[in-house]
Amino acid sequence: MAKHWLKVALRGVVVASVLGGAAMACGLLAPNPVSDGGAVPSFVYVETWDAGSFDTDGAPPSATPMACGDAEYGDPWTPGYPATTQIAAQTKVTQLLPSMQLSDMAGQMRGTNPANLGNYYDIFRTLDNQPLGIKGFLFRDGPRGVCLSAQLPANKAGYSTAFPVPEARAASFDLALEEQIAEDIGDEVLASGNTMILAPVVNLLRHPFWGRAQETYGEDTYVLGRMGSAFVTGAQKYLPACVKHYAAYNIEDGRAYTDSVMKEETLREKYVRQFGMIVRDTGVACVMAAYNSVNGTKSTQNAHLLTDILRGDFNYQGFVLSDWWAMPPGGNFATTDALKGYASQAANAGMDMELPWAYNYAELESITGPLPDFPVETLQVTTSASRILEQKFRFNVESTQGGTLGLKTPTTTIDENTGSIVGNDAHVLDAERAALEGTVLLKNDNNVLPIDSTKVHTIAVVGGKVPWVAKGTLPPWGTVDFARTFLYDNQQHLVGVLSGDLGSSRVFPDPAKSVGAFDGIKNNAPAGVTVVAGNSAAEVPSNADLIVAVVGLTPEDEGEEYTQAGDRTTLDLDGKPDERDANGNPIQNPLMTALIALGKPIVVIVEGGAPVNMPWLSQVQAVVMAWYPGQHGGTVLGEQLFGKANFSGKLPMTWPAKDADLPQWEGPNLTTTMDFYTGYQYYEQNSIKPLYAFGSGMSYTTFAYSNLYVPCTTVTPNGVVYATADVTNTGTVAGDEVAFLFLTYPPERPQPKPVREVAGFYRVSLMPGETKRVTFPIRVADLKYWDKTFTPNPDNTNANAGWVAPAGTFSVQVGPSYDNLPLTGTFTVQ
Ligand code: BGC
Repeated sequence: MAKHWLKVALRGVVVASVLGGAAMACGLLAPNPVSDGGAVPSFVYVETWDAGSFDTDGAPPSATPMACGDAEYGDPWTPGYPATTQIAAQTKVTQLLPSMQLSDMAGQMRGTNPANLGNYYDIFRTLDNQPLGIKGFLFRDGPRGVCLSAQLPANKAGYSTAFPVPEARAASFDLALEEQIAEDIGDEVLASGNTMILAPVVNLLRHPFWGRAQETYGEDTYVLGRMGSAFVTGAQKYLPACVKHYAAYNIEDGRAYTDSVMKEETLREKYVRQFGMIVRDTGVACVMAAYNSVNGTKSTQNAHLLTDILRGDFNYQGFVLSDWWAMPPGGNFATTDALKGYASQAANAGMDMELPWAYNYAELESITGPLPDFPVETLQVTTSASRILEQKFRFNVESTQGGTLGLKTPTTTIDENTGSIVGNDAHVLDAERAALEGTVLLKNDNNVLPIDSTKVHTIAVVGGKVPWVAKGTLPPWGTVDFARTFLYDNQQHLVGVLSGDLGSSRVFPDPAKSVGAFDGIKNNAPAGVTVVAGNSAAEVPSNADLIVAVVGLTPEDEGEEYTQAGDRTTLDLDGKPDERDANGNPIQNPLMTALIALGKPIVVIVEGGAPVNMPWLSQVQAVVMAWYPGQHGGTVLGEQLFGKANFSGKLPMTWPAKDADLPQWEGPNLTTTMDFYTGYQYYEQNSIKPLYAFGSGMSYTTFAYSNLYVPCTTVTPNGVVYATADVTNTGTVAGDEVAFLFLTYPPERPQPKPVREVAGFYRVSLMPGETKRVTFPIRVADLKYWDKTFTPNPDNTNANAGWVAPAGTFSVQVGPSYDNLPLTGTFTVQ
């Protein structure tokens, strides 16, 4: 597959690349109707592959549908466990095992020893076994770029590429780009001397209050599974990836004590399905067990999750590690007997590695031996150690003897003086491309965008000063004030580059290569347009023709629990204490009211990881959801506002109209009952009309859908239905469209049954007037549902036998968003 995006400045030329196969439309935009007088693009992005999963040569819709049988399925994001490599790795483990004592094997299964740690921050590694020449793992987060500030000497900068947060990348629905970004991150992780990337996050966004909403790919299990598979495929070209957090972790506050309670069909179909897709499709090396309990048992001690489902159902071949201090007692201190009890529970449940400390698992040697004299059988420890060693050998990260680590030589390097990644310009461009594809235009009344420079001569870009602070409270070493180390203006969305929260996935990009909203807009303004900045309505010049208001959330509003941000308690912009001025008054909504009172047209840019309430929505002309768009987010905004580039992001979650419409949040005793119906299915089931449906997102052009073709009249339970549809750019500028395929289950399926669910998506680039046929492969085996009446045998030998292959007629619906699916068809599963 072809690599990075090229961005080229062109005048008077419309570019179509023929690299990598079929000719592709330029990313965007040709022509620019306003700022270039309708003539030519100012620049184009040259795509070197189509962003969807298939080429566009699907079967012609005139072909006659027929009976389809079982079929193999494969695409770039289904590499699976590579048989030859795996066998070679297993052979090396088998050769090594005879020379390993119990303590060598137990040593593979735990982090650093807290008693010996002069430096408590040494929490991102397991130890080397020097006599055997086996290297420990060196871990680094995370999903939006390599977090080099973990364990960085005080005098170093530790810059790395800051990509848009995963929620923004989900909005691109671009699997190829996600794969590329993960390759970039894998490259930087390895270049920095680390050997495992702690990403992707594929927890279902059940509720937008979740402080880590920004880190995941939205509210749909299929989308989570596919985007997660694209990430793992890319990262594992370099080194092992660890998909997290297994399972049903979607509430931050009190996360070590929360209990996600749900029925078995809900667990299987909603909260672990995406992990199963990633395990089966990509052969992921590592799964991280979450902090929370599921149905009363901690994820780290949960044999149903870690053995019945992960090993038995998904056929998982990698190893399981715990989230940091996720095993009880959770970083607190306990008696030796208690530690032994926790260790035996976890080891027997299938938890292979305790992190970050050798704490409970420091007791492994004393509790392991023959049954029934010992609680943990020696075979269990041998099995866990073998799983860990096998992944080290598979990815060539096992040797203490020097030499190259990983499967591929990184293209970037670390500058030893600054501790920063260098040589990452191509990665920064990929980050820019992701911001471009993921930014969502939600409202554009009277075509106020793109800005018409024949009418708009002065633009006021306004953002409130929000005095946020984010702290780390990691006992026993006290409080870390991340704001002090944060390199940008920590008060303004306007000039700051907010790359997201400051928890474990924090990333600090090089300020010299980072562009905030104001600079991006100013830099892209056509000649003759003046752009001024301000923090209040009073600073808007009277001759301003347009106001761009930049509002949003901060690292104190939403983020990981230990930064003291945690969850939100309302979708209001002014919901958290930091959103107050020195007199205790809210900042951002009053700013909007004051700006509206000026009577000028207003474009609002929202930064944040998830939806916010917009009480002023009807009084502004345009709204752009920019998420946390990474280090070049400002550049992209400028290009899009002035029509040099188009919008094409679509919401990977439903945007609620108000707080009262949201599902139950944390219940008494931190227990939350998680319903079967989530995301768009929750809104449908409860007849709640959202503000914006899943898949919403506007463009400067228009698209028409036609010719849905479902090639199978009938299909067998392991078949693949390659449905196709034609998408036409019916407007006057180039643009990308994300098309969705939804399925409705046959009437025979009993409740609970969603009205419809996503079974395919496809991003396609189209020049004006152009039509392309897009393909949605539907794997029938993915459509099984869990029989809610199923009861396992008392000995649990049939724990995974509740899946039912649905028979009957499925309805297929294709279109631009959940609430607009103009094409319909059917196929019948036999
Ligand atoms: C987070 C994980 C992360 C780990 C290591 C935890 O606080 O939940 O996502 O990988 O820290 O940094």
